[in-house]
Amino acid sequence: MKKYVINGGKPLHGEVTIGGAKNAAVAIVPAVLMVDGPCVLENVPDIADVHIQFEILEKMGIRVVREDATTYRTENPGVSFDREAEYAPLMQRLRASYYFIGAMLGRYGRARVAMPGGCNFGGIRPVDQHIKGFEALGASVHMSNEFIVAHAPNGLHGANIYFDVVSVGATMNIMMAAVFAEGKTVIENAAKEPHIVDLANFLNSMGADIRHAGTDTITIRGVERLHGGTYSVVPDQIEAGTYMTAVAACGGEITIKNVIPKHLDCISAKLSEMNVTVENYDDSVIVRRDPSERIHKTNIKTLPYPGFPTDMHPQMAAVLCLADGQSRITEGVWANRFKYTDELLRFGAHVSVNGETATIFGVPELNGADVIAHDLRAGAAMIVAGLAANGTTTVSKIGFIERGYENLVEKFRGLGADISCIGEDLGELDNEA
Ligand code: UD1
Repeated sequence: MKKYVINGGKPLHGEVTIGGAKNAAVAIVPAVLMVDGPCVLENVPDIADVHIQFEILEKMGIRVVREDATTYRTENPGVSFDREAEYAPLMQRLRASYYFIGAMLGRYGRARVAMPGGCNFGGIRPVDQHIKGFEALGASVHMSNEFIVAHAPNGLHGANIYFDVVSVGATMNIMMAAVFAEGKTVIENAAKEPHIVDLANFLNSMGADIRHAGTDTITIRGVERLHGGTYSVVPDQIEAGTYMTAVAACGGEITIKNVIPKHLDCISAKLSEMNVTVENYDDSVIVRRDPSERIHKTNIKTLPYPGFPTDMHPQMAAVLCLADGQSRITEGVWANRFKYTDELLRFGAHVSVNGETATIFGVPELNGADVIAHDLRAGAAMIVAGLAANGTTTVSKIGFIERGYENLVEKFRGLGADISCIGEDLGELDNEA
């Protein structure tokens, strides 16, 4: 089995360049099938989830040329629905497959998408808000254990949709479906994450008419077609945040390039409270922590953007294990994402979980351990803890991590970390967000 081996306890120094945002790319790549003309996507993250999505597009009949590691050129001669037996198993491997529903339903009036049965935190993830939105646009939707099937043989029509919960996935899915719906669609209580704005910018650059993405009320006016063009995916807020937490945990000074500092404000503000210096520049940040000083304790509550991102919760918990007192992290998005805390205990951390809150009692140092990546961000937390811990750490089940972080080993080695990947890939790919 493939593993990361980390010899930790060393400060980090150097520069790292952030890739395109995973959570933007996993919606923008399916949206390519809505575009008639040639489409060039740049700054696409070089990660397994995106590779699988392009494979799905190819099996659907989209022509895909990978021009370099992060640039793809696509053309849509017409989607073929009769190779479902080939692409359905690939869809079943990705939670983000549900973005194919919005794209296919919007463009072709029909979608049948194989869904993963569950995931590693929060049990089966609900899609009721997605379905409510599709139905409001005039689609009929049926769900079985494995498939979501949506039909709108006479096309979709604009509607006013008020989401009961703020959902990134439902906002993006309905935005896509509404691009070709007749008339005006208004999404209220929409999610405001940077990747929502990025999907809207992508679709608008191809000819869509989406306004006010990034606020809680988004308006979409239906258009006839999307004409093609070139688009560059926004930098990954969470990848950047993960490197910020790594230097916070280890000490040192790193420059993180290709970021939008504004998107990192929620993370930078918390790190500043924790005795970490963050300096913002146009498209980079410098993060510094004196290894001879302790991290300050703090409390965090995760919330939809612009609140503190749930996808930075486990990495931040790893840093707070080394704080000078007791910290609390309260989860406001995914109530059950605490499985990683058992793994942190193996490093000698003191963490207890009660309901939706983890209480972390800081210790002066962590010791290397053999741990498991239970999901993508839990895996990132294991790396942060392993880099800070004295001695050797092994992280297994790294398939999860490779699905969301591009060139992670090379990037950390560039910062002076002693990390390597050993063993064989046994195809250990599970369902995950
Ligand atoms: C996306 C991200 C994930 C991140 C999450 C929150 C991708 C591929 N994944 O997931 O990394 O953790 O946003 O920032 O972009 N909910 C419902 N009904 C629904 C949909 C969601 O009740 O129909 C609830 C969920 O149970 C959860 C909350 O809403 O408690 C937020 O979920 P959502 O924003 O939809 O997360 P995802 O889009 O799945």
